[in-house]
Amino acid sequence: MLVTQHSVLQRFWYPVMPIAHLQDNPQPFQLLGQRIALWLDEEGMPRAVRDRCCHRTAQLSMGEVIDGNLRCPYHGWAFDGTGACVDVPQLLDQPIPKTYRLDAFACTERYGYAWVCLGEPLTDIPDIPEANDSQFRRIHQFYEPWNCAGLRLMENSFDNAHPQFVHANTFGIQQEPVPPIPDSFEELEFGLRLRYNLPVFNIDTQKTNLGMTEERTMRISEGTWFMPFARTLKITYPHGLIHLIFTAATPMSDRTSQIVQFCLRNDTEADATAESIIAFDRRVTLEDKEILEGSEFDVSLSISAEQHMMSDKPSVVMRRKLAALLKAHG
Ligand code: FES
Ligand code: CO
Repeated sequence: MLVTQHSVLQRFWYPVMPIAHLQDNPQPFQLLGQRIALWLDEEGMPRAVRDRCCHRTAQLSMGEVIDGNLRCPYHGWAFDGTGACVDVPQLLDQPIPKTYRLDAFACTERYGYAWVCLGEPLTDIPDIPEANDSQFRRIHQFYEPWNCAGLRLMENSFDNAHPQFVHANTFGIQQEPVPPIPDSFEELEFGLRLRYNLPVFNIDTQKTNLGMTEERTMRISEGTWFMPFARTLKITYPHGLIHLIFTAATPMSDRTSQIVQFCLRNDTEADATAESIIAFDRRVTLEDKEILEGSEFDVSLSISAEQHMMSDKPSVVMRRKLAALLKAHG
């Protein structure tokens, strides 16, 4: 599946950039091969337009924001968040032709990020109840491009046979390679949900982070896949700590995904510093990254194209659901 070849993928919301990156200047981003310019309007809401001026195709993201509008760096035309041209310095008081406009895209803020949908949305932005719960703090973790297909990362998130090998140096127990049988598996209209108990090894830094002394503990993992390329993994430790990770593999191009990750925790900075939490999740993430960037980026949705085992059920369901989506939308 090459993401730029399927227009239905334009009908999902994707987190594209931390709002904090837009405080000073407009920024470029590439979503599903489409170059977009992002900025904050006068109310501080993110806006997204095609990153090509309708005059002489200059890159608008190289311009500046004036009174909440995006001003082209080439001849100074300015555009609002709907894509309408609102100022042409060369025209003085003459009316601005209606044809002076850009393609604008649906754009909004959620969880501290700008989200964009290039088409008519098929579903909502993933709902994460813990994000609105004052017991939880939100920690921004990663924002970086990976050279892998988003689907590979999604499958990896629901693959409970890989930690024992890929994460043998962080939390996986290689001596116990048989993956746990899920407690529950639920297909959702635009996703799936999986719950299982995983025995984990707690390395020293992690023991401090988790406020635990045991070497080996069980953790309850509940993963939710939000079609096509986002997931949450809610990890509950025996003493009640919840570490909920949101990860999106926002599709930039056929070969590149922008990793957007934050976590929500029901503890405080005094229990574990944000820095130490990020450092541990960074170690784990880099272990996955190495494997995923070495894998084939074009994931076939044909079930017979790769071999499977029992614990690949989520991945097989993902491929089946995506194949059905592509079929239903031509
Ligand atoms: Fe943008 Fe001329 S190219 S104003
Ligand atoms: Co992993």
